[in-house]
Order: sequence, then C-alpha cells, then structure tokens
Amino acid sequence: MRAGALEGLPAGRPIRVEVEGATVVLVRVGDAVYACGETCAHKGGPLGEGRVTGTRLACPWHGWMYDVRTGECVFPGRGARVPSYAVTVEGGDVWLDLPA
Ligand code: FES
Repeated sequence: MRAGALEGLPAGRPIRVEVEGATVVLVRVGDAVYACGETCAHKGGPLGEGRVTGTRLACPWHGWMYDVRTGECVFPGRGARVPSYAVTVEGGDVWLDLPA
C-alpha cells in the first residue's frame, strides 16, 4: 500500500500515517525509510510523537527506545518489540507491506 511520497518525509522525525485502518510510524534515515507500529510496548505511548536518533526511536512517555529497522526494544532485558513492516521506496513513493 502506498504510504506517501519520499520527499514528504522529513529525516529525523517520526511521521504517523494511517494505512488501511492501521496506524504506522514512518522514519526516514537518509534515503531509507523504516516503518513500525505506533503503540509503545511499555504502556502504550505514542511512538509517532517520539524522538529519532539515527535508527532509534524513543517513546515520548518514558524513553524506551526501539530500533526502527527491526522494531526491537534496544534496552537490554526488556524483550519487548513493536511490529516492524517492510518498506519499499520506488519512483519517489513509499510503499508499505502490511500483513493481511
Ligand atoms: S509508554 Fe513508552 S516508554 Fe513507557
């Protein structure tokens, strides 16, 4: 599903998009785009309002950090993750591969 135009995605900050009823957070890192779920695995904080550092996205509520490439929480021992979605950038468009 098309999630938007690459040029509409600023680098270094998360963008929340609604695609087919799902809320997904897009993070642009250079010319690459990653996509993950919007709801923090800790207590449901809005990752779309989080802070991006490199490939890490920090939840605005208590600071849990996720690797946007995998959706895994990078804090040792947490064992938490958010969904991660495949992204394709083609012809300036960003396409998301969401599970059916
Ligand atoms: S709800 Fe995200 S860190 Fe607590």
